[in-house]
Amino acid sequence: MKRPLDPYRAIDRQRRPHSYVDHLEVRGRTPAQTRLRRRFLRFARIGPGQRVLEVGSGTGIITRDVAALLGPRGQVIGVDPSRVMTGAARRLARAAGIGPRLVHAFGDGARLRFAANRFDRVFAVTVLLHVANSAAILREMLRVARPGGIVAVQDQDFGSLTLDHPDRALTARIMDGVVRRMYPDPFSGRTLFGRLVRLGLRRVRLAVYVFQDTTLEPYTHAMLRRRAENAVRLGLVSAPAAARWIAEIERLAAIGQFAFTLNYHAARGIKS
Ligand SMILES: C[S@@+](CC[C@H](N)C(=O)[O-])C[C@H]1O[C@@H](n2cnc3c(N)ncnc32)[C@H](O)[C@@H]1O
Repeated sequence: MKRPLDPYRAIDRQRRPHSYVDHLEVRGRTPAQTRLRRRFLRFARIGPGQRVLEVGSGTGIITRDVAALLGPRGQVIGVDPSRVMTGAARRLARAAGIGPRLVHAFGDGARLRFAANRFDRVFAVTVLLHVANSAAILREMLRVARPGGIVAVQDQDFGSLTLDHPDRALTARIMDGVVRRMYPDPFSGRTLFGRLVRLGLRRVRLAVYVFQDTTLEPYTHAMLRRRAENAVRLGLVSAPAAARWIAEIERLAAIGQFAFTLNYHAARGIKS
């Protein structure tokens, strides 16, 4: 059976690339994710008048929030190697009535087409865990930040995920088994602080946010269903076992006993 590689490495080559636009927008609208995003933007010290770059900007759910913080003189650019994502981000920004202070460009984070020392803030959110060349992306982020500017990154750490399910062994086979085979770096979150220190950034700080869901939000539901499907595809569990696992999750949610948590690690530092 076909190995389900991480779709975010190459969205445009997926069978239904537009489904990832929907997925990111649904995730972004989840109330706990909205809070997480706002906290990250405060942590990255985004404010009026800045020139900001987001690497791996997807549908622009974060760049649209940044645009609202910049005032009339700031500018935010989102770069993404997916044409589907870049097109969706432009459409969604227009629909939100955001003008020229927000630009979405097609491009690879490992080869940014910007001069050195250009941006006050450079950040990437839930990108590094998905890519094989995250070291090159980080180096490029650092290159285009100005001296005194802030580089900030945030990733989930799938080693921190908890799900209260009566069948813990099956849960581990599905959840741990899939992320270890699917993502280039599923435990990226915990590495971010050390990576920024090793890059020579000053005053590196770490902040860990806990995403928690007790109502089985559409985003969490879709993610758990996809994990179960991928576990079957990878031969980790049988289709009936995966179906039983999901049915139990839905039963727990229906009686108000669903509990899911996942840590998001954010690190920021100042370029010398
Ligand atoms: C999970 S999405 C996150 C999007 C957005 N940052 C957010 O949090 O909603 C990961 C994004 O990284 C992009 N990506 C993948 N490889 C990349 C690369 N080499 N450089 C920059 N972005 C990349 C994908 O196209 C996708 O839009």
